Amino acid sequence: MIKSIYPLTESVLEKVDLDAAIKVIKSKKITMGKKTQEIEKYFKKNVVSTDSLMVNSGSSANLLIFQCLINPLVKKLKTGDEVLIPAICWSTSLWPIIQSGLKVKFVDIDISSLNIDLKDLEKKITKKTKALMLVHALGNCAEMDKLTRICKKNKLILVEDACEALGSTFKNKQLGTFGEFSSFSFYYSHHITSGEGGMVCVKNKKYLNVIKSLRSHGWSRDLSNKKYISKKYKNIDKNWIFINSGFNLRPTDINAAIGIQQLKRLKKILAIRKYNFLKIKEKLINNKNYKNQFSILTDQKYSNIAWFGIPFVLNSQNKKYKLKVMNKLNQKGIMTRPIISGNFAKQPSIQLYKIKSNTKLKNADLIDKKAFFLGLHNIRITDKRLRTLTDHIYSSL
Ligand SMILES: Cc1ncc(COP(=O)(O)O)c(C=O)c1O
Repeated sequence: MIKSIYPLTESVLEKVDLDAAIKVIKSKKITMGKKTQEIEKYFKKNVVSTDSLMVNSGSSANLLIFQCLINPLVKKLKTGDEVLIPAICWSTSLWPIIQSGLKVKFVDIDISSLNIDLKDLEKKITKKTKALMLVHALGNCAEMDKLTRICKKNKLILVEDACEALGSTFKNKQLGTFGEFSSFSFYYSHHITSGEGGMVCVKNKKYLNVIKSLRSHGWSRDLSNKKYISKKYKNIDKNWIFINSGFNLRPTDINAAIGIQQLKRLKKILAIRKYNFLKIKEKLINNKNYKNQFSILTDQKYSNIAWFGIPFVLNSQNKKYKLKVMNKLNQKGIMTRPIISGNFAKQPSIQLYKIKSNTKLKNADLIDKKAFFLGLHNIRITDKRLRTLTDHIYSSL
């Protein structure tokens, strides 16, 4: 087995996180309850300023958003409506759209940000286009003021997948607060972790109860208007009124308790990640062997990015060369990944579901050929590790 010298993730569970989890276990009230409510309030107050509901993953957050948009109580989207999405996205940024009976159309990305290309976005909008599922790839973003103007002008519902962007801001505004809905992930490889977990954030209060019932079997038990509902349906036991369709996408209070502790350290975590990003970048670029073989991206204009990983863009456009470099690095214990999932339009699942992608995605293809990413950790990198990482990178090029 290869010894991992520089893994993709080094998330840290501190004693306070474990203590908080154990306290919940000892209370014997493990399922969604008070701790979940506490993290939701904390997230709203300290991160997004919008109503937030915790779920068991970022994927579940995305699913709830699109299920809410097509719900009979909301009807903002209907079967066959078209939703745009950047081709560099995650599997569960995309599938909830299709699982909700909507159509997707891929938009190309901007090579310098790895995020949606605004010119291509404008080109792809037609009368059928009703929403944009924006994915803040690697925590970076597009020019958000221009993007929101495009959405407004074309009456597109903006959904932000901010699962990789906790702590990233554009003009001092947290990503995930520009659209009507957004999602965050607390999976263990993300900026903070609750083991598994995520957050769905909603601007319009009207949708909060819909998402709450969808999250939990479709029942009315957790809703703010449950008293009114139980009066209306007097003949049904008040705890067993199913007012909507539903899933079970709830977190446990164990996840919530860990998440709260991590969120309380968010500033510190982000500072360490920023330090690591800049330190690694500087060490690589100022190396005597550096001859423009690659570049490491910089933050989008006007933004302060909490990078999800270290995007490494090779100069060569030869995919075989990229795979060779990635393989050499992996053999040396330096773990690498494609930029999220590469060009998602090329994934076999897209063919399986016969999703048409007869549009050119030049830059997404290019990124597929020449870019990958290294992990970014929540522990400050040591000089020794930095030297090893740099040496291994140069000997793999
Ligand atoms: C952009 C993006 N969206 C959604 C998700 C899904 O989050 P989760 O793993 O919590 O389901 C991820 C996960 O890595 C992601 O990177």
